Amino acid sequence: MSAVTLPSPADLGAAVLARLDELAAITDEPGKITRLYLSKSHRRAATLVEGWMRDAGMSVTLDPVATLIGTYPGSDPDAPHLLLGSHIDSVRDAGKFDGTLGVVAAIEIVRRLNAAGKRLPFGLTVLAFGDEEGVRFPSTLSGSAAVAGRFNGAILDEKDEEGITRRAALAEFGAPEGDPAAPWQGQSGLGYLELHIEQGPVLEAENRPVGLVTAIQGVTRGSCRVIGSAGHAGTVPMPLRRDALTAAAEMVLAVERIGRETEGLVATIGQLRVPGGAVNTIPGVVEFSLDFRSEIDAVRKDAEARIRKAIEAVALARKVEARLAYTYEAPASECDPGLRLLMAEAAEATVQKPIRLLASGAGHDAMSFRGKLPFMMLFVRSKAGISHSPEEFTSEADLGIATATLFRAVLDLAKKHA
Ligand code: GLV
Ligand code: MN
Ligand code: MN
Repeated sequence: MSAVTLPSPADLGAAVLARLDELAAITDEPGKITRLYLSKSHRRAATLVEGWMRDAGMSVTLDPVATLIGTYPGSDPDAPHLLLGSHIDSVRDAGKFDGTLGVVAAIEIVRRLNAAGKRLPFGLTVLAFGDEEGVRFPSTLSGSAAVAGRFNGAILDEKDEEGITRRAALAEFGAPEGDPAAPWQGQSGLGYLELHIEQGPVLEAENRPVGLVTAIQGVTRGSCRVIGSAGHAGTVPMPLRRDALTAAAEMVLAVERIGRETEGLVATIGQLRVPGGAVNTIPGVVEFSLDFRSEIDAVRKDAEARIRKAIEAVALARKVEARLAYTYEAPASECDPGLRLLMAEAAEATVQKPIRLLASGAGHDAMSFRGKLPFMMLFVRSKAGISHSPEEFTSEADLGIATATLFRAVLDLAKKHA
């Protein structure tokens, strides 16, 4: 392979930021960034990203679970592929960097290679997943699970809050019919690399632009429906009430207490609903979500049992019914040591100092590849560690350093395969 000149981090940062801004304008809530899986805005974002992929020299397909797959063959068209990517869905009222950065940076790398007429000894496949945040349906990471060959067909019948199934939403989106679990050539790839914002405060506190991910912590998600008895706010005496909301409040605090008291566990109730709630009605039904995580699977599994017990105890004491279901789980997933070394050398060459290792508290598409393909993640500094918020920020300079690091890692791997 002839030498490829690595673009300057400044050039890469400017190119990446311009595209992040374009994507940020695509939303279902004007004035905010809200792009849930298979929404109208996800559809528009996929069309935009597909155009970028084609302009960068890739052929593009959409898979049955709405992952955009951009393909840039290697010098030998039959050579295996290195996978790069992240996600283009968002939480509600999100920032503009979470997920999109990994997609946009990967496209920019292919665009530069194609513009220089360069083919590598392996192909590059850029993946724009759509279901990383798991905000719309009970389970999550379906796009990367399908590519990795671990898709669970049962989730196609899952429903969103409006009762729309994944199956129906995929048809509405225009995803092609087909078996999402069918083997795909990516499954015999060389590995998967994902660039992502840190979403935490560590790199900023230590004045480091990038960091290397060691592992992604495991997660359990669930939902709980608390059923008490609705009644008139003025007529039912306090001792005779079976208030679902006050019971749920105690359950929420019990979950928080378990999170606080357990070393290495974080526990969050991010959604609480009082369906049909009114100012003058004692709540008869309340629903809340659960999300708890640990780097140690045994700690998380133990928490599953303790949280269930705590919720049942509150339900018994308050004479309500609690229907708790754990709807999704993924174990802690370790990054590949070989790819970590590759990324470490690329990062050190880019920033000229030793690179910090850190674990990921957030979940990522990369974890779908556990046990299937070696994977590695590169984190870039987030301002004040803020994410899942419009305040999310990474500087243009850092975007450039991170993209240059990923680019260098790809080129270094190409040298090893030459
Ligand atoms: C995604 O951001 C997650 O960690 O839930
Ligand atoms: Mn993300
Ligand atoms: Mn996120």
